[in-house]
This record gives sequence, structure tokens and C-alpha cells, in this order.
Amino acid sequence: MSQNKYVTTAIPYVNGAPHIGHAEDYLLADIYTRYQTMLGHKVKFQAGTDEHGNKIEKKASASNLDLQDYVDQNSQKFRDFLTKFDIGYTDFIRTTDQAHTRLVQQIWQKLQPHIYLSSYDGWYCEGCESFVTQKEFDEYQGVCPDHQTPYQRITESNYYFKLSNFKEQIKTAILEHQMQILPEFRKKEILKLLEDAPDVSISRPTEHLRWGIPVPGDDSQVMYVWMDALTNYITILGYPERAISDFWPADLQIVGKDILRFHAILWPAILLGLGLPLPKTILSHGFILIDGQKISKSLGNVVDPLDVLAKHGLDAFRYYFSKHVDTFTDADFTWEKFENAYRNELANDYGNLVQRLATLCQKNQVRFTPSSLSFDSTYSDLMDRFEFNNAINYVWSKIQEVNKHIEELKPWQVAKTDPAEARVLLSNLVHELLSANYMLKPFLPISNQVEQIFTASQIQPPKTPLFPKD
Ligand code: ME8
Ligand code: MG
Repeated sequence: MSQNKYVTTAIPYVNGAPHIGHAEDYLLADIYTRYQTMLGHKVKFQAGTDEHGNKIEKKASASNLDLQDYVDQNSQKFRDFLTKFDIGYTDFIRTTDQAHTRLVQQIWQKLQPHIYLSSYDGWYCEGCESFVTQKEFDEYQGVCPDHQTPYQRITESNYYFKLSNFKEQIKTAILEHQMQILPEFRKKEILKLLEDAPDVSISRPTEHLRWGIPVPGDDSQVMYVWMDALTNYITILGYPERAISDFWPADLQIVGKDILRFHAILWPAILLGLGLPLPKTILSHGFILIDGQKISKSLGNVVDPLDVLAKHGLDAFRYYFSKHVDTFTDADFTWEKFENAYRNELANDYGNLVQRLATLCQKNQVRFTPSSLSFDSTYSDLMDRFEFNNAINYVWSKIQEVNKHIEELKPWQVAKTDPAEARVLLSNLVHELLSANYMLKPFLPISNQVEQIFTASQIQPPKTPLFPKD
């Protein structure tokens, strides 16, 4: 039966252009969307941009642009990025949208019973836009490990959200799999963090933060950027003005490992405070490293995703990042690995196979009658567990088997003595290829073209190789 599915991606800060790490969120959500759509479901796929906070305000003033112009320009870069990468998002939200602003203020009102005024005296990382506990400060000796910048000391009056009201409920939801956190080792980290999690500051005084959504009824405070950002997942559905049960709770929320804690602790607490159900799965992916190192502007090792796209096209990009990047852990990008994967796997295993088999079919006038294709159970299990790279690895082993079977069966030799038998062998090989190819569809759009080649009334090899070697 057709269901509604809802998948979300982290909304990037607009303090720069999209980089290769952002592509990871989008690609995973896109693979999920294509898969669920093939299963007959209707998928809502949210994307957007996170536009408030000091980090962005500072970047904007350094650029000499008006703040709104600056965020407009950068938000547009993310939209263009999604289009260039053919990411099938259905909805795009900006935290500076008027509707979002209005809805977040209503959400704030609804959370009143769990909000209290207090003061904060402690540490803050502007790169993370995160309050930092003394324990973390000590552990990292005062310097944020992700941003290599010293934590700031902050003394201010803030509104707090009473996380303590919900800790037990969140813990139970995680342990009883009402809210699944993937991978398992991250879930353990979250359970540990949850134990010591203090109440969370959810506003900043205007003298410390100007660029944010005003707290209703208190001109001296604006909302903490994470309060405003996390709620995007439901304001995009029109909450609280509209009923959201057609799509909420989300089936899958995709985030990077650095922001899992916001999504697995603060976000569920907000939802519980609103009386809303928790997301079914939160998937945390690792980081893409460049030549083994963290992507960093100061190291100058930023790889432009558009360069990677330009090199061998979209399918090559998607192939590398889904198959050679583990869904859950850090993984390396190097041009050399990318080139090798393109040549040895995509061009050889797949492109050549298509070329060769289609040529043999043409020569022997094979008429292929397509039978209905489906996902096999091994594949479905992996996809349903969100082990996307294991799923494509599995499909790849099927592709390699077809290559092996061609070599073993030698249809070109059989054709010399028994053309009818050769046609049967070739038909079977085509069926084998198309079965594997069908499972590539969520990953590689080019698989549609491959299917067309073999289901055409006359099979013909593509005029130019699918994956040219330059
Ligand atoms: O965190 N490899 O925005 P952001 C893989 N605005 N993923 C990476 C990465 C890398 N090298 N670098 C970043 C924010 N990411 C907030 C999100 S959501 C309500 C608010 C991922 O621009 C990162 O983990 O810093 C996150 O999922 C996304 O890119 C946006 O990061
Ligand atoms: Mg970040």
C-alpha cells in the first residue's frame, strides 16, 4: 500500500558555498527518496538553509553586503547546487522566510510551560553555535576540536528549555527503538551524553546576538539559532497552523555526526514539549575527508564538488560517494581513488558490460522480452536498514557475476554452431544484468538508460560509451 514518507536533511549555514560534505546529506536523502518512490510511496524531501546567528552576521559584514542580500545570495547557491546535482527535493525552507519566523514564534508560545528565565555563565563555540559544558571545555583544553578556535566565555541572561522534563522519555524512546539512532556506536554516545545533558539555553540577549528571530514578548532576546533551525522540519509542514500528521513523524532525518547531538537530544525534547511524536530514524553519517584530512579552508584542501561533477558527470559522482563512502563513518576522497573507481569499476565492470552485451545481442538478433523486475530480499534488507553503501556493494557483486557468466558461457562461440542456443544464453544474461541494474536505480540515474537499451524493440549498443575513458 502506498504510504507517505518524509525525509529531511540538515539545513546548512549560509556562511559560504556548498562543499563536498553537504553533498553527503543530499545524496543519502536522494537515494532514499528514489528507493521509496520505486516502492510506490509518496516522498516529501525537505531541504533548506540555516540563515541566522553570529557566525553568519560576521561573514556578511566582512563581505560588505547587506545581511539579507548576503543570505539571499548564499541560499541561492545551495538551491543551484541541488539542481546541478539533480537532487529530488520537494520542499525548500529558509529560516529567514516570513512563514518560518511566524511559526517558530508560535512554537515558542506553545513551549511556554517548559521555558524559564535564568542566566548563563559558561562557554560557547561560535563555529558550532553551541553552548559548551565545563567538562567539554576541559576535555578539549578550551579549543573547539572541529573549528580550532578557542571557546568564548559568555555571561548573559537567557531563556532555558527544561530538557530535564524529557530526558527519561527520550532515553526510553531510544532504547525501545521508537526513535532509532544510527549507527549503533553513535546511539551509545548519545545515551551517554543524555545522562549529563543540562537544560538548554534557547535564547541570546540582543546585545550578543542581533541576527535572529525575536522572542515573543521580550524585545531584549532573540532565539538561539538551533531553536530556530531545528524547528524547520515541522514549520515547513505548516506547524502549528496546519495539521502535519500526513508527514510527521519523519521517517528519516539525515545529519552529519557533528550535529547528531542537537537532533537526538534537544530536538526530541522540543517535540515532546509540543506533544508531537518523535522521528522514526535519525541517521548520522561520517565526514568526508580530503586526502585523509578534515576539509578546511585554512589547510586549503577544499575540493569543489562542481569540479568533481564536471570531471566524469553525475553518475560517477554518485557512484563514488555512495559506494566508496561508508554511510556511517568517515571516508576519504582523493582524486586518485575517484579516478580508479571510475575507470576500473564504473567504466569496466558496468559500462563495458553494457556495451559488450548489447553488441552481442545486436549481432545475434536477440529479442528480449522484459519480465517484471524487483528488489531482492538481501538488497531490500540493506536498504531498509539504511546501509546504502552495503546495498550498492551488493549490487556491484551481482554486476561482476554477470561479467563472469559471459566469460564462462562464451555466447559468441556458441553462436557459431547453435545460434538459437546463443540467443537463449544472451537473453538470460540480459535478464541477469537488468535485475542488478534495477537495484542500481536509486543510486545511478544512468541505469534507466541501460534498461531502455535492452528493452528496446531492437537492441543496439550505445553510440558512445556510457563512461568514456579520456
Ligand atoms: O551544522 N563531511 O550546518 P553546516 C560530511 N546549520 N558532512 C559534512 C562535512 C564533511 N566534511 N562538513 C559538514 C549546520 N557536513 C547547521 C545544521 S540542521 C537543523 C542545522 C555536514 O553547514 C554537517 O554534518 O555546518 C551537516 O549535516 C551539514 O553538512 C551542514 O553543516
Ligand atoms: Mg558545520
